[in-house]
Amino acid sequence: MLQIYDSLLKGGTIVNQNGCLRADLGIRDGRIVAFGLLDETHAGQIVDCRGLHILPGVIDTHVHFRDPGNTHKESMESGSRAAVLGGVTAIFDMPNTIPQTTTESALAAKISHGRNHMHCDFSFFVGATKDNIEQLANLEWQAGCCGIKVFMGSSTGNLLLDDDDDVAAILRGTTRRVAFHCEDEALLRACTHLRVKGNPETHTLWRSAEAALMCTTRLLHLARKVERRVHLLHVSTAEEMSLLSDFRDIASVEVTPHHLTLEENESYTRLGTFAQVNPPLRNSAHQLALWSAVRGGLADVIGSDHAPHTRDEKNRPYPESPSGMPGVQTFVPVMLHHVHTGRLTLERFVDLTSAGPARLYGIAGKGRIAEGYDADLTIVDLKRQERLSDQWIVSECGWTAFDGMEVTGWPVGCYVRGRQVMWEGELVESFVGTPMRFTR
Ligand code: DOR
Ligand code: ZN
Repeated sequence: MLQIYDSLLKGGTIVNQNGCLRADLGIRDGRIVAFGLLDETHAGQIVDCRGLHILPGVIDTHVHFRDPGNTHKESMESGSRAAVLGGVTAIFDMPNTIPQTTTESALAAKISHGRNHMHCDFSFFVGATKDNIEQLANLEWQAGCCGIKVFMGSSTGNLLLDDDDDVAAILRGTTRRVAFHCEDEALLRACTHLRVKGNPETHTLWRSAEAALMCTTRLLHLARKVERRVHLLHVSTAEEMSLLSDFRDIASVEVTPHHLTLEENESYTRLGTFAQVNPPLRNSAHQLALWSAVRGGLADVIGSDHAPHTRDEKNRPYPESPSGMPGVQTFVPVMLHHVHTGRLTLERFVDLTSAGPARLYGIAGKGRIAEGYDADLTIVDLKRQERLSDQWIVSECGWTAFDGMEVTGWPVGCYVRGRQVMWEGELVESFVGTPMRFTR
């Protein structure tokens, strides 16, 4: 019998960044081939999606799986399982693994391992160091690479490049958008005495809003001078946002669910070192500015900055405790809850999590629901109420800073290139992930 569709998703509401449409969706050979009122006679699997919303697959452009080197915190397998159970269909992984992803061979090893161990699609950032600046122009265009990442302030691992001349050399020597962690290293060093042992609240004094602003200011003026595009990761302060509005032509902006959701004082009281992250959580005035950037369009993408550490590691006395919290599995439910409370529209969520990543990074065939695009889909129930809990987390770390949060809005399924990888909280098909392709 002629099979027109491998899968037919019936009766859902299809959402793109520019609007919604009630329609069936037909998938064949991993791609979206039709939507509208579709005939089910020649379909393989038919899935009832009445009452559900079908979004383009959520792309998390900022995760730290710890593979290779620290797989007791997270492996590619556990991290990507957390991703798909949370409704994320593709991830960009950061280079601060062991070994660091700073050479062609380290990148190739990660890609080859990813092919057999990832449940979602993937790509890898290459880290910039003083020693590989000359090679970055070649490295950034390797298959499976999403771009270059520069730590201008030191964080977890040893990757650091804080010299303006080096940063200018990277920008001049490369062509893709370069992603930056901005906290001014000199100011951080000058302020280390502000850390008080056993007192994680002092994390914000040491890694101040000024340190973030100072570094972002330096970077933006450098980028202006050399006429290059830059991507600012996890922007956390009001002052950076207002500065960034003058650099829209060259700078793109990421915000994170934790900076949007967790306020510093409440979080340190409730979570102690488990709230310790770089850049730090901020007060509600900064948070309001981040929300205004989300609503007004200044923010281009949301990335989870999934940075798992084990409970034992986080339980060390501050500042021996490492910075970072997991986020890839809670990304979609936390943000859908913000949709529910009216802080952003569902279309804007799609813009920030699929259309935005595709536009910024030039991801081939992903980022929207349209004929010919990959059938990467995040299927959500906007009415479903759940309580986020540590027990639900499948990350190796086994905890979430959102434990106890009641949310309305839940990922019930996801498809990766036409294959159902998650449905109703179960992993349906394993290891389907392949490296993403990029057009620019
Ligand atoms: O809090 C953080 N943790 N910030 C970073 O920049 C790195 C990350 C990690 O890898 O643990
Ligand atoms: Zn990060």
